[in-house]
Amino acid sequence: MLDSLGGKAALVTGAGQGIGRAIAVEMARQGASAVAVADRNAQTAALTAELVRAAGAKSEVIVCDLRVRDDIEMMVTRAAERFDGLDVLVNNAGVIESTVTTDHDRAVDSLSEEVWDAVYEVNLKAVWLTTKFAAPYLRRSRRGPSIVNAASVSGLTGFPNAPAYGVTKAGVIHLTKVTAVDLAPVRCNCFCPGVIDTPLAQDFFAAAEDRDARERELTAPQLVDRLGRPEEVARLACFLASDSAAFITGAAYVIDGGALAWRGVRG
Ligand SMILES: NC(=O)c1ccc[n+]([C@@H]2O[C@H](COP(=O)([O-])OP(=O)(O)OC[C@H]3O[C@@H](n4cnc5c(N)ncnc54)[C@H](O)[C@@H]3O)[C@@H](O)[C@H]2O)c1
Repeated sequence: MLDSLGGKAALVTGAGQGIGRAIAVEMARQGASAVAVADRNAQTAALTAELVRAAGAKSEVIVCDLRVRDDIEMMVTRAAERFDGLDVLVNNAGVIESTVTTDHDRAVDSLSEEVWDAVYEVNLKAVWLTTKFAAPYLRRSRRGPSIVNAASVSGLTGFPNAPAYGVTKAGVIHLTKVTAVDLAPVRCNCFCPGVIDTPLAQDFFAAAEDRDARERELTAPQLVDRLGRPEEVARLACFLASDSAAFITGAAYVIDGGALAWRGVRG
């Protein structure tokens, strides 16, 4: 077993599936003492918690809706009380427009206010509120406390038909910087994935008229010709949370198979 996260207690939001589940399990593999698995889905969260325990860490399932302020406060308090403090917060949960609506037209001039609010509340407001409630515990930690936020390449470049997603992810990148400033020496960084093979991405492909064409279109600009894997993002998140990243704060790390490195026009 690796020991990069040597005895740290972590809270991972949206840990019921996809990238969040991979992060929770990888944290346990890398020596975290405890990982709180927060999600609105009790069943998937329970399965992640079993995987975390099998990988060697204590675990606690916390069912909560990140659109509800009191749920967020309860989630943080419960994790910190159960584990006698908190050393790592991973604000991973996120939704994209196609998670929230079956409407095909989700452009900036047609998106409904309800969908905008739903995406904003989970992707940005909940990240801030969770950080706010976790800050007193992280400040008290003597085990290299840090926050890792899930942003996206969509927060760095324009992307069609998902305006609230891109804007909130750009907001997460900036929230990462101001959090690093205000909470120092607590560190705060974010990861910006490209296309990662998770239920979110698969549902996004499926929401298109031609599913396979949508997948090809999204992966075409990549220099690594495949979907990213949740475990690859998890290893980046664990590095950022570990003491190996002790000199890194306020930073945004792209993990996208090279898509943002160029304009994607093959000669
Ligand atoms: N998969 C990708 O291609 C990709 C790319 C860029 C960024 N990201 C980001 O990475 C993060 C994880 O993405 P994923 O692909 O694993 O997503 P996913 O949809 O597969 O999993 C997200 C999890 O968050 C939970 N969740 C959603 N809304 C919630 C709420 N209101 N309260 C509590 N839990 C809630 C879901 O139940 C689910 O378990 C997200 O922030 C996403 O925006 C993903």
